[in-house]
Amino acid sequence: MAPDSTPLVQRLLPLDLFQGKTVFVTGGGSGINLGVAQTFAALGARVAICGRTQARLDAAASELRAHGAQVCAVAADVRDYAALEAALARSEAELGQVDVLVCGAAGNFVAPAERLSPNGFKSVIDIDLLGSFNAARAAFDQLRRTRGCVLFISAGMAYMPHAFQAHVGAAKAGIDMLMRNLALEWGPHGIRCNSIVPGPIEGTEGVKRLFDADTMLAGVPLGRMGTVDDIGRMAAVLASPLASYVTGCVVVCDGGQNLAGSALFNAGAARALAAPAGA
Ligand code: NAP
Ligand code: COA
Repeated sequence: MAPDSTPLVQRLLPLDLFQGKTVFVTGGGSGINLGVAQTFAALGARVAICGRTQARLDAAASELRAHGAQVCAVAADVRDYAALEAALARSEAELGQVDVLVCGAAGNFVAPAERLSPNGFKSVIDIDLLGSFNAARAAFDQLRRTRGCVLFISAGMAYMPHAFQAHVGAAKAGIDMLMRNLALEWGPHGIRCNSIVPGPIEGTEGVKRLFDADTMLAGVPLGRMGTVDDIGRMAAVLASPLASYVTGCVVVCDGGQNLAGSALFNAGAARALAAPAGA
């Protein structure tokens, strides 16, 4: 018998799990965040995505519509609070109030701290940390009405130092603490907040920029790179009633990569840093 090609999430979870729900994903035009958006779309959600590049969002929207989802693709830089407010207002007008906010927009590059300019450090803090706060803050009124939830896309750099990632470690650690504060403050409104820590996810910009894939793989006990679906499934479970009593948690979804520490990353990142630009 031919193997069933239906995605795992659609075989294991009800296809209408997020029917009538609206999911807003920052940085949803590509990579892991688009994979998360696709999982929600496959489970019946209406999906809004934002990012800086309208053409990229439009291409992603076509992929999401292929799941039958209603989609709103709106350009907004997460560093610009007014732009995010406008994006969330448009998403509300077109798709209804947000039930699930995914804060996934991020920037990253490898840079030794002593050569990283203050503005380079600030750029990553602004996109990752301030951008996550901006999105959560701008979505609060809608989330309060829906008793919704927020998922922050963090990274192992938040709790394990990685060479040439001082800016990202500070930003992602800040995101996880922001998540805990919001879980505490917004719990009484019925809003749950959690972080997901992806491991190295195949085919993504993050892996291209940061990891030497072969070296990295040696440090993953499960012996494979993650997929965007691995993260999408985690997001779907955390946002669903299956996790209705889970808030304030950092959920690590990395094949056990953190157990090996960051030494293999450091060796690979040093090679990536030494490689000629564009190699
Ligand atoms: P990606 O495809 O580059 O995703 C980042 C997205 O954020 C892009 O769509 C980008 O679109 C958007 N973005 C960047 N700056 C923005 C801004 N100022 N305002 C709004 N949107 C902005 O990278 P990825 O590797 O899939 O990473 C996705 C998330 O997973 C990130 O939070 C990353 O830290 C996390 N993560 C990734 C890995 C991995 O293995 N890839 C591992 C751990 C954690 P525009 O450039 O068009 O704005
Ligand atoms: N090494 C060191 N510094 C760097 C750098 C690198 N590879 N890339 C950018 N910077 C510095 C710039 O020099 C600048 O600082 P300066 O003004 O002191 O010179 C600062 O960062 C801002 O650069 P700019 O290009 O204006 O930022 P931006 O806001 O247009 O872009 C980035 C943000 C730099 C994070 C860019 O890489 C990006 O857009 N990333 C999104 C996609 C991504 O990173 N995906 C992976 C997610 S894990």
